[in-house]
Amino acid sequence: MACMKNNSYDCLLIVDFGSQVTQLIARRLRELNVYCEIHPYQNVNQNLLKRLSPKAIILSGGPDSVTRDGSPRANNNVYNMGVPVLGICYGQQVMMHQLGGEVKSGTGTSEFGKAFVEKKNSSDLLEGWFDIEKEQVWMSHGDHVSKIAPGFEVFGTSPNAPYAIIGDEKRHFYAVQFHPEVHHTPKGEAIGDQLTCVFVDHGLLRQGEANEVISMFRDNYNIPLIHADESDLFLNELDGQSDPETKRKIIGRLFVDVFQKYANKIEDAEFLAQGTLYPDVIESVSFKGGPSVTIKSHHNVGGLPEKMGLKLLEPLRELFKDEVRTLGKELKLPKEFISRHPFPGPGLAIRCPGKITRDKLEILRQADAVYIDQIRKHGLYDEIWQAFAAILPVRTVGVMGDGRTYDYACTLRAVTSVDGMTADYYPFNHEFLGETATRIINEVEGINRVTYDITSKPPGTIEWE
Ligand code: XMP
Repeated sequence: MACMKNNSYDCLLIVDFGSQVTQLIARRLRELNVYCEIHPYQNVNQNLLKRLSPKAIILSGGPDSVTRDGSPRANNNVYNMGVPVLGICYGQQVMMHQLGGEVKSGTGTSEFGKAFVEKKNSSDLLEGWFDIEKEQVWMSHGDHVSKIAPGFEVFGTSPNAPYAIIGDEKRHFYAVQFHPEVHHTPKGEAIGDQLTCVFVDHGLLRQGEANEVISMFRDNYNIPLIHADESDLFLNELDGQSDPETKRKIIGRLFVDVFQKYANKIEDAEFLAQGTLYPDVIESVSFKGGPSVTIKSHHNVGGLPEKMGLKLLEPLRELFKDEVRTLGKELKLPKEFISRHPFPGPGLAIRCPGKITRDKLEILRQADAVYIDQIRKHGLYDEIWQAFAAILPVRTVGVMGDGRTYDYACTLRAVTSVDGMTADYYPFNHEFLGETATRIINEVEGINRVTYDITSKPPGTIEWE
């Protein structure tokens, strides 16, 4: 990173010891509107310290072990500048080692993943953050501090890190064993528990999807999530409707109503954040007054009522899906998250042309699950931009065993695309198509015919409605 003469604004220096997540420290600071610069530990010398004149210093984590001869150290002047210093993980160990404490290599005391830190003493560092006695954090360490340096005291411990949070309040030196910069340390970032996610379950999701969403948020991310199971409301209003735009409008309206009902229960909520993308906008309304026509009303772009009283945040509104994925990679989100095929807000409603019934939705769910299972088994999931089944509003005659069947036909769709704006059908080989059709007809009661949709976009759209 370029070095600047920093006399016009305050700067925080991050001394990088090679952690995978050093960039996240900078990101968190930027979220807090703090200007910072990352410099590799080898470059942090007296000259640089003088030039930057940092107001505070963070020592990052890193892969090495301070117990190894020749492992990285911070320039000693870092501790003599009279500014606060925070050590994170390796940064904590290096700090302890350099200031007179001890570090041991970690047989039996390593800790990876979720851990809980218990508050032992009050400290300025914990102000406004440790509201309760036990906070969830994210650990990833092999070595650990076995003796703290003179002047330090313990503010928090975890089962495998007796010195999880330590500090010398006189010198404003602090050190933590965990990684406050990562997403999994909920209060490590600015938003923290100020975010409540409202999951509007309209009963039009794929097989097992509602439970997957709930467990992803609650178990993996520990983000407060309200599961608004309103499937009856949606399905009752959709009953008998077959016009695509009417379906979309009903779903869009109910989304807002349901969201509002649950959001009202959240005290002092000020903002609504939505993941609207540019194609949603351009296909629904003319972007910034432009001349494009409405192809379909995307559920999230229909306009939120003024009376909602929430300020709308749509950080992705001017980005295409591929750009959002690049962003996701940059933020180191899990791969399954990033490479997941898109799924439209109105859900299975727009994959069920004609009248929607609960029975048809259930048949569709099963057919779709078999199809996606086939795609995964054949290792094709990541080659395809989006794949799904749709249930057609026709019944066809078939023969199974010695009997006549009169069941629904379904169609399979799979497309390649970069941004969803144009798409081509995926050229499955016939063996795959035959095997998939046989599986669907054998495994899903209610379907006796399978077709493959070979329309590109344009002239078709990706979804059937
Ligand atoms: P179409 O069918 O317009 O779809 O070619 C392009 C991409 O957008 C998804 N899609 C939607 N996504 N709300 C969404 O969030 C919607 O109303 C909606 N309609 C379509 C579709 O699945 C495809 O990925």
